[in-house]
Amino acid sequence: MNSPLAEPDIPVITIDGPSGAGKGTAAAAVAGELGFHLLDSGAIYRVAALHALRSNADLTVESSVLQTFSSMRATFEPGGADGVAAKLDGEDVSTQIRSEQAGNAASQVAVMPEVRIALRDAQRAFRVAPGLVADGRDMGTVVFPDAPLKIFLTASTRERALRRAKQLKDKGITANIAQLAQAIAERDDRDASREHSPLSRAGDAISIESSSMSLEEVVERILTAWNALG
Ligand code: C5P
Repeated sequence: MNSPLAEPDIPVITIDGPSGAGKGTAAAAVAGELGFHLLDSGAIYRVAALHALRSNADLTVESSVLQTFSSMRATFEPGGADGVAAKLDGEDVSTQIRSEQAGNAASQVAVMPEVRIALRDAQRAFRVAPGLVADGRDMGTVVFPDAPLKIFLTASTRERALRRAKQLKDKGITANIAQLAQAIAERDDRDASREHSPLSRAGDAISIESSSMSLEEVVERILTAWNALG
């Protein structure tokens, strides 16, 4: 992956939480306000999983997935509908990585400890001046444990299902709220119960429960916490 070298004293704001809590949108807005770089760590897992799928790896066997990484040529730039333009071997895969198949494959390879270690340096390389906003599951606990500001963003399962349904509706897709809520609960369970880097709140993270908050209110809360650091 093609990022410049990281510097440990460059500030990082981490935003962790379950899927559908609005981490990506909030992270992009905060990064935009502060002029910081953006790391959508889920996109890294999604691209790695897509590459493994395309390379016919057996996604249940860690060594098979790891083998494909030596030939992975992935780049990430700001842009695209989801805030990150991802390329694999020069091809824009920003849309493909958002598919259900890529999401499931990502959460399958994300349980593998050596895969997580292999992708950790690629994530840390995004720590470039003047600063970084990183969203994911283990940004504050594992990847950037020294981040000066850590946020744990949550929302109720029902609220996350409603938000997802709205996103799908905007794309012309009708969804069943109960089924969406069930899929979200299953993904939460997988992310929180895995052995390595499970989704968990860092002890020094600020919790924001966003069920009844607008995006603007969430962003305002994060920026206020950032400014309070002086
Ligand atoms: O956030 P997103 O839904 O794009 O992430 C896809 C999958 O990648 C998640 O379900 C999770 O299993 C995994 N992931 C992870 N650690 C991160 C980001 C994502 O394990 N920091």
